[in-house]
Amino acid sequence: MSNIGSYEKRRENFSWDIAKEVLKWEEGEILNIGAMCSDRICARGDGEKKALIWQGFGGKQKTYTFNDLRVLSNGFAKFLKELGVEPGEKVCLFMDKIPELYVSFLGVLKMGAVAQPLFSAFGDESLEVRLLSADTKVIFTTRKHVKKVRKIQDKLPALEKIVVVEGNPNKLRDEEIYFSMEDFRTEDFTAYESGPDTPSVLHYTSGTTGQPKGAQHGHGSVWGQALTTSWVLDLKDDDIYWCTADPGWVTGTSYGIIGPWSLGVTQCVLDSGFTSAAWYQFIQDNKVTVWYSAPTAIRSLMRDGEGLVKQYDLSSLRHLASVGEPLNAEAVIWSEKVYGLAFLDTFWQTETGSMMITNFPGMKIKPGSMGKPFPGIVAGILDLNTNEPVTEPGTVGLIAFRPGWPSMFKEYVKKPDIYRSKFVGAADDAMPAELRVDESLWYVSGDRASFDKDGYYWFVGRDDDVINTGGHLVGPFEIESALVEHEAIAEAAAIGKPDEVNMEVVKVFITLNPGFEPSDDLELNIMNFIRKKLSPLAMPQDIEYMEKLPKTRSGKILRRYLKALEWGHDVGDLSTLEDD
Ligand code: PRX
Repeated sequence: MSNIGSYEKRRENFSWDIAKEVLKWEEGEILNIGAMCSDRICARGDGEKKALIWQGFGGKQKTYTFNDLRVLSNGFAKFLKELGVEPGEKVCLFMDKIPELYVSFLGVLKMGAVAQPLFSAFGDESLEVRLLSADTKVIFTTRKHVKKVRKIQDKLPALEKIVVVEGNPNKLRDEEIYFSMEDFRTEDFTAYESGPDTPSVLHYTSGTTGQPKGAQHGHGSVWGQALTTSWVLDLKDDDIYWCTADPGWVTGTSYGIIGPWSLGVTQCVLDSGFTSAAWYQFIQDNKVTVWYSAPTAIRSLMRDGEGLVKQYDLSSLRHLASVGEPLNAEAVIWSEKVYGLAFLDTFWQTETGSMMITNFPGMKIKPGSMGKPFPGIVAGILDLNTNEPVTEPGTVGLIAFRPGWPSMFKEYVKKPDIYRSKFVGAADDAMPAELRVDESLWYVSGDRASFDKDGYYWFVGRDDDVINTGGHLVGPFEIESALVEHEAIAEAAAIGKPDEVNMEVVKVFITLNPGFEPSDDLELNIMNFIRKKLSPLAMPQDIEYMEKLPKTRSGKILRRYLKALEWGHDVGDLSTLEDD
């Protein structure tokens, strides 16, 4: 029997308070994600239960119980307090998927500060814009990644402390602090009394224009994350759960930390590079039962074929789900054939904080569809011109949601106007105070889709120029700004180019400065330049030289035109593009 039971019945009788029942949480108890994922689980008698089974490069393994999480996160919390960090201040977590990342996340939240996890493959420029924007006060990192922080620390006036939590302490600079979590096991720490709107997790997400925006969540997001984890991922007490996402991205925190641990479920983490064989081995060794992954990974597994699947015992698996990009019908059908289980597609965003449109255990799957709105979520498709909800099945428009679900982001850090612009349907002066409750508004996702006559949603594409590569959003503006810092490049435009496995990869169009000629060496140099500055995800896979870039009359580069050419779409009327 699945946790959700009947989808229709759940929709009819829905209240977010059911999350409290699922969490066995009573009025007056603490609402602090750090404490709920550790102290509460121990208090209910599960302190000795395994919380984290971790495996690193070379097969190195470590296991932590919920009691370990409790005392180790207490150590981080106490240490931060002693450093003088105040509730609400931002603490960045910049490390690989090592145990310290997961534990420090809980510790930061426990003492009331804001956890700002950043993808450890980010280069110094990606790191700099995000730390600068957030006025981050402390960064936890490792010996391996501290060099990138050193490179930019002088440009970050708010950054007071650099704390290295792993690696050789002897090689640190005087002003850097070494913190070994095992040496700071702390029995008692009183968690900060947060409320639902107290800032908790901060994730940066890329848009079409400008630098990435910091989507701020609150501790109350746990209601949405726990309930969706229970009903969609169907986690039960004895499951061994594996979320393949990195906590540098929202899936890795909402469903790679908060969802499972708030429910007291054991999870595994594999912190080593992807190979299909290594993943199957990991599932076999740990007897993974529930697996949450992404279409790019699934397509890579498909490419390596059914023969490989047969070499492993994957019989422990009972439930699979996917997020981040469109899950193509072939992948769903293939997974059903080779694993005996279909991957269930789930749709949501950094801003939504938890799943919004999903397939559910027991529900009929239409391969290629994202499924139906989660009970309690009011979804709609808004007309592309009028922003009015469409009623006709099959009409393509913008996916939108009525505000009011518990995991909805609270703000974009220092960008109230952009935050406001994500909501339509009410006078500006009614915002933002009423945003969270006013059901006359729609939060507009920025994606296009339609629904069919049975209420299933079908993804069409993004409504903007953001590139989705392997389930990670990359902003074209970030890439273009970095490109023009290269001595050879005069102008640049970045778009997503179709790719069989990653859905999209970055393609750039550039014009060269006088004195530079196209060459293989230059191309390699540009690729590396972006990889180092931004990240491997942002690195162009294709570089096209142009004499000049197509522009609007006002001088804006016509990215959309380049994209239409690349994808073989109708370029349309150039005069309308020029107005964009
Ligand atoms: O374009 C949609 C795509 O990923 C975007 C959200 O990215 P991010 O904020 O980084 O969060 C990713 C993980 C929650 C969406 O606006 N996306 C996400 N899930 C799906 C998807 N596109 C198609 N199908 C999905 N299931």
